[in-house]
Parts: sequence; C-alpha cells; structure tokens
Amino acid sequence: MKNYVTFFEGSYRRLTTDPGVRGDFIERFYERFVEASPEVAKQFELTDMRRQQLMLARSLDELVRFSGERRAPETLRSTALRHGRGDLDIAPELYDQWLSALLATVEEFDLECTDEILLAWRVVLAPGIEYMKHLQA
Ligand code: HEM
Repeated sequence: MKNYVTFFEGSYRRLTTDPGVRGDFIERFYERFVEASPEVAKQFELTDMRRQQLMLARSLDELVRFSGERRAPETLRSTALRHGRGDLDIAPELYDQWLSALLATVEEFDLECTDEILLAWRVVLAPGIEYMKHLQA
C-alpha cells in the first residue's frame, strides 16, 4: 500500500533542506502565484516580496506539522486570521490558485517528481489549507 506521507516527505526534503534550493523554490512559487490571476496580483501590489518569501517558508513548515498533529501553533492561527474576513478577506477560491502554483513549482524543482508525489502534496497540505480557508475571528 502506498504511503503518501512518505512520498511527500522525500519531495519536501529535496526542496527545502538546502537553503539555496528552498529560497529559489519559494521565489519561483510567488512568481507563479502572482501571475495566476489579476486578483492575486492586486493583493500583493504593495507587498515586500522578500519578506513574504521568508514568512511563507516558515508557515509551510507549520502547515506540514499541522497535518500530522491537527494542532495550530499561535503563529499559524494568527496567519490564518490575517487572511480571514476581519483582515485581508482572501476569497476561499484563491486557495486553489495558491495550491496550483505550489504544485507547478514542485513539479519544476523536484527532479524526482511524479503524479503520485503531486497527489501526496495535496493530501498532506489539505488539512492546513482547510484551516487557513475557514478560520474566522
Ligand atoms: C495555505 C495558504 C497560505 C499560506 C500558508 C499563506 C501564508 C502567509 C503568511 C505567512 C503571510 C504573512 C503574514 C504576516 O505578515 O503576519 C501571508 C500574508 C499574505 N497573504 Fe498569504 N498565505 C496563504 C494563502 C494566501 C492566498 C490564497 C492569498 C490570496 C491572494 C494570500 C495573500 C496574502 C496577502 C495579500 C498577504 C499580506 C501581504 C502583505 O503584508 O503585504 N495568501 N500569507
């Protein structure tokens, strides 16, 4: 039987262990995400993208941990609230664009990528994305 967590962990390690690869991976992800639609581009019009990249690297780790523990550290909770109705008010459908941009970037950077690895990323990140989409103050 396939273990999707194992598939995911191998890929995540290849993309995030080396700080150089990790930095390029996240930078390319944001390029793709901002190009995904005018709505996304508009949200990031005034954003310092360097800082944003650093913040995402950290919160990606938190999403992964959330998947295993189903407990949100205070930092993940406040990131989720920041995206909620009381603050940035990010439309839930924009999370599909977020995930598509991320998967396209995994495919580009993970030299061992397969369809099953991409499915593993979806399976592992799903709980954290649901949390981000639906937590409201
Ligand atoms: C699970 C998916 C996502 C994660 C993990 C994530 C993570 C983050 C983090 C860590 C921050 C920084 C928060 C802070 O400054 O305290 C942030 C800010 C932000 N995010 Fe997200 N985000 C996600 C999805 C999205 C989506 C779908 C959009 C839609 C366009 C979006 C738009 C923004 C914007 C506009 C900011 C504020 C940028 C600024 O301060 O100028 N995020 N996000």
